[in-house]
Amino acid sequence: MVSMSKAPGAMFGPRRVGQCHNVEDFRRLAKRRLPGPIFHYIDGAADDEITKDRNSAAFDDCDLVPNVLAGVETIDMSVEVMGKKIAMPLFLSPTALQRLFHWQGERAVAHAAEAAGTWFGISSLATVSIEEIGRQISSPKMFQLYVHKDKGLNRSMIERCKAAKFDAIALTVDTIVSGNRERCRRTGFTSPPRLTLASMASFAAHPAWAANYFLREKFELPNLKDHVAEGSNIALSVADYFNTMLDTSMDWKMAEAIRADWGGQFCLKGVMSVEDARRAVDIGATAIMVSNHGGRQLDGSRAPFDQLAEIVDAVGDRIDVICDGGIRRGSHVLKALSVGAKACSGGRLYLYALAAAGQAGVEKTIANLQGEIERGMRLMGARDVASLHRGNLRWR
Ligand code: LAC
Repeated sequence: MVSMSKAPGAMFGPRRVGQCHNVEDFRRLAKRRLPGPIFHYIDGAADDEITKDRNSAAFDDCDLVPNVLAGVETIDMSVEVMGKKIAMPLFLSPTALQRLFHWQGERAVAHAAEAAGTWFGISSLATVSIEEIGRQISSPKMFQLYVHKDKGLNRSMIERCKAAKFDAIALTVDTIVSGNRERCRRTGFTSPPRLTLASMASFAAHPAWAANYFLREKFELPNLKDHVAEGSNIALSVADYFNTMLDTSMDWKMAEAIRADWGGQFCLKGVMSVEDARRAVDIGATAIMVSNHGGRQLDGSRAPFDQLAEIVDAVGDRIDVICDGGIRRGSHVLKALSVGAKACSGGRLYLYALAAAGQAGVEKTIANLQGEIERGMRLMGARDVASLHRGNLRWR
């Protein structure tokens, strides 16, 4: 990734949360604080990582055209996504294994999202249970469902989400097999981390991370562990987990059956084609996350922002279209909203901050981005998100 920080002294990198003014600053602090295999699991993507880079670069192909003298003393950044009003048009996509990145894990992300009044989610591969999140968090929360071969496990996760009053299920549709994550192959990253000479050396070089990981609560995947040992007790790469545990027969019929069984707000996470967006509407989904899984799956696939306009034109009046991927700046959110996305979401944009500094980090990265969106709306002359439209954009 091209370094965004050109400030004097930026070459030394930030050392504390207060010095992290943008996502790239948090990325650099996370790199300093995490053992290499864990940093590269978050930061890495598939094959040549071309899609991952394009996800952010796509936003640079167009420019915002502001209007002035709009009377912007008050700004309304709120949007309604999947039936819930959120305070800003950006939320935290569900991601896996968070206690590996920082001992506070999903708890930190959940509390930071709640304080900001926005959606967040936990993964089937979360390190905190559905029940605990349900008990502790009253703001909108989604559960990212990975469909496993073990049908009992799929049923149990859906039942547990109902009992814990989750607000939505996001069905992952872009991991039918794992992408080729070459950084993880090189570092030997597994969940839980396997103790090898190389991994022990990387832990020894990061004693604060290692003390927290080894001396605090035991690592486990509580939403899976009663059904499968892999990932909690048996160390496995994420690629091996996907390729051995997930159900490659998943199809539209199965997605529709899951939606019907769940009965609530239902999102397909990882839709990229117009045809699939239409089918999502047909099976009764209430949202789609236009996403390529952060470039971690099919390298060479198109970026969400590049694909957004045609999807919005096809289904934007019938389903919430969320632009997920590559968001690093408030201006990226403004561009996606101008094209017609209901909201944006992202994973790495808060994972770097979690890894760097736990809940304080996630709160600061949200505040940075929220500030950028708000300032950007004022500078655009947009008093609310409905005022952003394609007329505000020019393509280069
Ligand atoms: C990944 C999964 C677990 O991309 O979301 O690694």
